Amino acid sequence: MSEALAVAQVLAEKAGHLILDALPREKRVDHKGVVDLVTPVDRACEKLIIDGLRETFPEHRIVAEESAAERPDAGPCWYIDPIDGTCNFVHGLPHCSVSIALIVDGRPRVAVVYDPAKGELFAAEAGKGASLNNNRIRVSPTGTLDQSLLVTGFPYDRRDNSAFYLRYFEAFMCNAQDLRRYGSAALDLCWVAAGRFDGFFEWGLKPWDTAAGWLIVEEAGGRVSGFEGDGFDPWSDRIAATNGAIHDEVTALLVKIDGEAGYRAPDRAK
Ligand code: IPD
Ligand code: CA
Ligand code: CA
Repeated sequence: MSEALAVAQVLAEKAGHLILDALPREKRVDHKGVVDLVTPVDRACEKLIIDGLRETFPEHRIVAEESAAERPDAGPCWYIDPIDGTCNFVHGLPHCSVSIALIVDGRPRVAVVYDPAKGELFAAEAGKGASLNNNRIRVSPTGTLDQSLLVTGFPYDRRDNSAFYLRYFEAFMCNAQDLRRYGSAALDLCWVAAGRFDGFFEWGLKPWDTAAGWLIVEEAGGRVSGFEGDGFDPWSDRIAATNGAIHDEVTALLVKIDGEAGYRAPDRAK
């Protein structure tokens, strides 16, 4: 195991202890937007992780949700989501995660997603496969959208653009076996990697939401792209991740609804 993976795992687990301890308690909640929440625990976890990474890798860049940062040009950069699923966390719903990834020159190299409530640590290193609690994981063998269980998210502009998003949700309700909304994009991706879901799509995610899950899905044999099935850029607007077998079917349906819903990048719902 590389030093980067070892350090990321230790920091994710330490942050996970803070989350687990606070999960059943009442939280102080600040609003970054109408439905975008942050708590002192998000900030404490982020500080713990940043301090730990700076100690070992002082020359690496860091992009973290509560501190934000510019897109780095090149070189090694860590992407941190201290609590992915803050809304669940605030409500005491035990489904959230710590997400840490190292991207070097635009490619993900190391990824850790830790779900403290379930004690599940997902990890991957480029070229070395993906694991859950040190056991190798692989995507599902499901071969058709009709037989697939998918997961998605409701974007932060959902109150303003609900009609737009509902077109996509309706299309997948009618074409997949079923569709879920769990509330942690990092875990959605890991659950695709572990074969629990066959695919995932969402709009408006940030690189700290997707960077770790991206590598974990790819190393588990899956595929990650934009809605058009092109290569994935974690700074882009939209993500589709699947077991690979259903990828073309999923992206074809997304593109079809794009046309019907009048999608125009980057003001997707305008
Ligand atoms: C959110 C979660 C959620 C997704 C949101 C994200 P946060 O992250 O990943 O599943 O639907 O778009 O922003 O705010 O809890 O870190
Ligand atoms: Ca997040
Ligand atoms: Ca977060």
